[in-house]
Amino acid sequence: MAQEVRGVIAPGKDEPVRIETVVVPDPGPGEAVVRVQACGVCHTDLHYKQGGIGDDFPFLLGHEAAGVVESVGDGVTDVEPGDFVILNWRAVCGKCRACLRGRPWYCFDTHNAKQRMTLTDGTELSPALGIGAFAEKTLVAAGQCTKVDPAVAPQVAGLLGCGVMAGIGAAINTGNVGRGDSVAVIGCGGVGDAAVAGSRLAGAAKIIAVDIDDRKLETARSMGATHTVNSRETDPVEAIRELTGGFGADVVIEAVGRPETYRQAFYARDLAGTVVLVGVPTPEMKLELPLLDVFGRGGSLKSSWYGDCLPSRDFPMLIDLHLQGRLDLGAFVTETIQLDEVEQAFERMHRGDVLRSVVVL
Ligand code: APR
Ligand code: ZN
Ligand code: ZN
Repeated sequence: MAQEVRGVIAPGKDEPVRIETVVVPDPGPGEAVVRVQACGVCHTDLHYKQGGIGDDFPFLLGHEAAGVVESVGDGVTDVEPGDFVILNWRAVCGKCRACLRGRPWYCFDTHNAKQRMTLTDGTELSPALGIGAFAEKTLVAAGQCTKVDPAVAPQVAGLLGCGVMAGIGAAINTGNVGRGDSVAVIGCGGVGDAAVAGSRLAGAAKIIAVDIDDRKLETARSMGATHTVNSRETDPVEAIRELTGGFGADVVIEAVGRPETYRQAFYARDLAGTVVLVGVPTPEMKLELPLLDVFGRGGSLKSSWYGDCLPSRDFPMLIDLHLQGRLDLGAFVTETIQLDEVEQAFERMHRGDVLRSVVVL
């Protein structure tokens, strides 16, 4: 029997979000219904609401979530009712050319639930990133559920479902930060701070946080930054070079997603160093660089999709490190809120007042 639950809908471009009754079908083959316990408010949810990610309104927002599996459809063997899971938005297929080459974190054919959740009048909803977890329950592909230790608080666990995983993964997976490395992180919101925390976890010796907002730099320091640079006041490329013996950092992580900050990242890295782009640009942005510099500076220029994470490998490991006190994921939760406070949370996010607001259900 389909169930009716409350969910946060973005009804149309730039219209305020509102709570509606959402019809959640029973899970079909390969699907699971999850009782959502917590879901973080991410920029991507705001972009959906603003019409920046297509116009398939109405959207069911929310995608940074943790909860308990309530029921599963035919053929589901990896999770069962009662499992505590983090939802991921890249359920790997196991069959595409990336998966077959043993690189499932790049899977080129990730999937979501086949059935659609609807409004009570039958209008089909588009779940944000194939999840839609600002709702009491949601329908996902079983592969989007990753089991982790239930000892962790849901509002903390859910964060790994998106921004925090993207940042940590940018450092440890894409950037391959290692013991003794120097790292610079440009843009210290939730994603950049997670890159700072990931770099500390990986043993980086020097972690330089760059932002235009002193409040953000202060938080970055508490996450593990050893140096901070306000790039409104100081040229960040010069500052990073000075802090690294005149050379530049081994790894520079761009967590803003703009051409000017990418250019800073490009020139603030040492010869043969690595640039990781985890900030997401918009379609009209263009990057211009002297090709000779691209060649002459060597190294690698990489992009990080979702922190190049493999949920089944990375989520349980990071939750274990958190539970052991080696990774403070709780520091990313600025506030917990109710389902009907998402609109205000968007405003606070827009003002830069929060790292993460997390809806608890
Ligand atoms: N130079 C340095 N820092 C900047 C600049 C700039 N020119 N412009 C903005 N910032 C800082 C902001 O002050 C803020 O601290 O970048 C940070 C961005 O953080 P958030 O807005 O909280 O965004 P976050 O959730 O961290 O995501 C960052 O990654 O996944 C993507 O879509 C996401 O593109 C976004 C980026
Ligand atoms: Zn997100
Ligand atoms: Zn695949």
